[in-house]
Amino acid sequence: MSGIEFNARLQDIPIYPAAETYAHGGELVKLASNETPWGPPPQVIGAIHAQLETLNRYPDPDKSVLRRSIGDRSGLPLARVAVGNGSCEILLAAGDALLEPGAEVVYAWPSFSMYPHLAAQSGATPVSVALDAQGRHDLEAMAREVTAATRLVLICNPNNPTATALPVGDIDAFLTALPRRLAVILDEAYVEFNMLQDPDDSLDLLKRHPNLILLRTFSKIYGLCGLRAGYALGSEDFRLAIDRVRQPFSVNALAQAAAAEAIRHQDEVERRVELTTIERVHLEMELSARGLESSESQANFAWVALGDRDEAQVVDGLAQRGVIVRAGRALGQEGMMRVTYGTRRQNDRFLAALDDLL
Ligand SMILES: Cc1ncc(COP(=O)(O)O)c(C=O)c1O
Repeated sequence: MSGIEFNARLQDIPIYPAAETYAHGGELVKLASNETPWGPPPQVIGAIHAQLETLNRYPDPDKSVLRRSIGDRSGLPLARVAVGNGSCEILLAAGDALLEPGAEVVYAWPSFSMYPHLAAQSGATPVSVALDAQGRHDLEAMAREVTAATRLVLICNPNNPTATALPVGDIDAFLTALPRRLAVILDEAYVEFNMLQDPDDSLDLLKRHPNLILLRTFSKIYGLCGLRAGYALGSEDFRLAIDRVRQPFSVNALAQAAAAEAIRHQDEVERRVELTTIERVHLEMELSARGLESSESQANFAWVALGDRDEAQVVDGLAQRGVIVRAGRALGQEGMMRVTYGTRRQNDRFLAALDDLL
């Protein structure tokens, strides 16, 4: 121990739970972090290579090429597009820009594990609202928790870890009933995988709700989580607010170039969505044939109830067989596991390990 006196809030800030890693003799099948199983397409690798020789220069602080590509695709001016070092950076910056002691932040639970950080780091009060019986956001219950002190509402759609999704119309009605002074972040990290809506549907909400911020990422469908790039679509004042509270140059040059190239390849996005959906159906059927129920997934992962099976035994047993999934207990949800859809080979390795175990 160093004896250093740290900020008193530090003890309330959870450390992001890394996926378990295990020493294993054979090929490791990692289905724990909702990554895509495919590496970047050759054009994206080419764009990264093209940047290598100029790494002695700082990256573009305005991220203008990338912001323009995102804006063009979303039908929004550059001024309304913020880009971050992963969408997590934007989330944490939004916490700094919006929250302070005495303020409240409302979010559903269980949901993305970063949300409690926003309150913990700012000293604001977290107000978590239980999901409904289907594992979906209970928007009515969330609306009841909004008070004069609420500054921020977070909605995760599709929700991590339950993979469930709400119709855009429900979110529209929820937003209409809320006071305009509240910021609402609609976290759509998995929006492209949602078969119930077109990813463009929620863009329409921005026209009616100036206090809405859509949060999206290059980490999931675009497969660039190793580089870190995410974005927010909202008002210009939101973008300027988060730019005030974070370090300059937070999005590195390789990430900016790779993301700007990746967004041009929507055919690849469609191909990945199709492959993921095929694997979703395959795994859902196979899990159900083994008596394991999962929630209705609109994402690239399954949220599986283990019933009377011992969670630690299942998750650790899979790991000993070289298959890493996310334990429910790591997310505060005993008796569950979250399994990212991999390739058919990886998914079948998971099923074989499960059969061996059960
Ligand atoms: C719901 C949700 N939002 C945001 C993120 C963060 O993504 P990134 O910071 O990689 O953009 C994740 C990552 O798992 C997530 O599940």
